[in-house]
Amino acid sequence: MMFELRMLGYRFLKAFMKPVVKLVPQPRPVVVVGPDASLRLCRMIGGFGFRRVLIVTDAVLVKLGVVAPLRRALVEQGIDVALYDSILPDPTYPVVKQGHAAALAHRSDAILAVGGGSSIDAAKVIAAMVTSGKTPEKLLGFFKLSKPMLPLFVVPTTAGTGSEVTIAAVLTDPVRHAKAAVIDPRVVPTAAALDAKVMQRMPPHITAATGMDALTHAVEAYLNVWPTAETAIHAVSTVRLVFANLPRAYAHGEDLEAREAMALASFYGGLAFTKAYVGYVHAFSHKIGGTYGVPHGQANAITLPYVLDFIKDAPYAEARLAELAVAIDAGTADVPRADLAQRFVDRVRELNRAVGIPEKIVPLLPKDIPEIARAAMIEASRDYPVPKRMKLVQAKELLQRMCATA
Ligand SMILES: NC(=O)c1ccc[n+]([C@@H]2O[C@H](COP(=O)([O-])OP(=O)(O)OC[C@H]3O[C@@H](n4cnc5c(N)ncnc54)[C@H](O)[C@@H]3O)[C@@H](O)[C@H]2O)c1
Ligand SMILES: [Fe+2]
Repeated sequence: MMFELRMLGYRFLKAFMKPVVKLVPQPRPVVVVGPDASLRLCRMIGGFGFRRVLIVTDAVLVKLGVVAPLRRALVEQGIDVALYDSILPDPTYPVVKQGHAAALAHRSDAILAVGGGSSIDAAKVIAAMVTSGKTPEKLLGFFKLSKPMLPLFVVPTTAGTGSEVTIAAVLTDPVRHAKAAVIDPRVVPTAAALDAKVMQRMPPHITAATGMDALTHAVEAYLNVWPTAETAIHAVSTVRLVFANLPRAYAHGEDLEAREAMALASFYGGLAFTKAYVGYVHAFSHKIGGTYGVPHGQANAITLPYVLDFIKDAPYAEARLAELAVAIDAGTADVPRADLAQRFVDRVRELNRAVGIPEKIVPLLPKDIPEIARAAMIEASRDYPVPKRMKLVQAKELLQRMCATA
């Protein structure tokens, strides 16, 4: 009963959020695109006059040799460079606190994030901590920054999260196994380089998972009921780019054209959801990722067709799914809507299979389902303008279907 009342309260509050969300500014980073764009970005940092730059990245990328040329390019500008390479997937509060200490010790005047969503999000929070003096726990939630963060430059090395353009930074609470976000237009980076060359050695399974994250951003944003004037163009472009290029990038990592198209898909997917929000897929996958460490993109990829099966018969969602089916040439506009919507869901399943995504969440245990369902329903009811309401019992049934042991 208490749970139902809480859900009702969230629904009531959401009615007030819609006009507020429309007013939130969406700053955009300067974007440099093309082979070696990351090196050009480093030269820009020197040109802007920054003299002490902290590189925030992870040890895998240092080992792969992705970071060294960027470091050299900064040093050639006469910049004093420090390195913080302890970012792990799904960054936690202690990880960003250590990074903050590194920035203070170095007296950095700018940060360069090199990595996937984990490094970029950690760098956003570190940059925000430096100027606000707040702990990561205090920055979580909406609009907690009253001044600009330290200037942040980013080189995404995965193509999926869109963090290079979003107003969000996701952190993981290592004790509660929960993910939460800092949401503020001030965490949008100053500039980003979309450089396919730094993505060439991304392994196929990471290419697949992160690419499906971009698709999920676009699909959830497009189906939600708060679209902006630009949502359609950003979301539909992303969907088309992912279907056309993810299998190529997955099978041929060195294909620079497919890699660049996926980098653009990630960027446009980020633009689509930063205003129109995500939905049930992310609500489930945040809790699944926090509980079992399933990579964010993989949890989304597996969950997406199950959630689409649930919402596809809501009239608004059905019409939007039918439009997406036409956009990827799965049918023409004269085919009945319900058939087109089903074809789009089928195409998502086929794409998952083509890029090696499993059908079930292997670590998901039946005993954890009530807690995951509850957390997901709270997140979705509170934060996301979804096109069809899911009851707690339906959320549990959906999770049951995703269980490998069921
Ligand atoms: N801020 C946002 O708007 C937003 C949106 C979606 C997801 N996220 C968050 O982003 C995080 C996930 O980010 P991600 O999916 O990009 O993965 P990630 O940054 O966690 O990286 C995953 C793994 O890929 C490796 N890797 C990255 N680039 C590589 C490359 N080019 N070659 C070889 N290995 C490479 C990393 O070393 C790491 O081991 C999650 O915490 C998620 O919640 C944030
Ligand atoms: Fe995501």
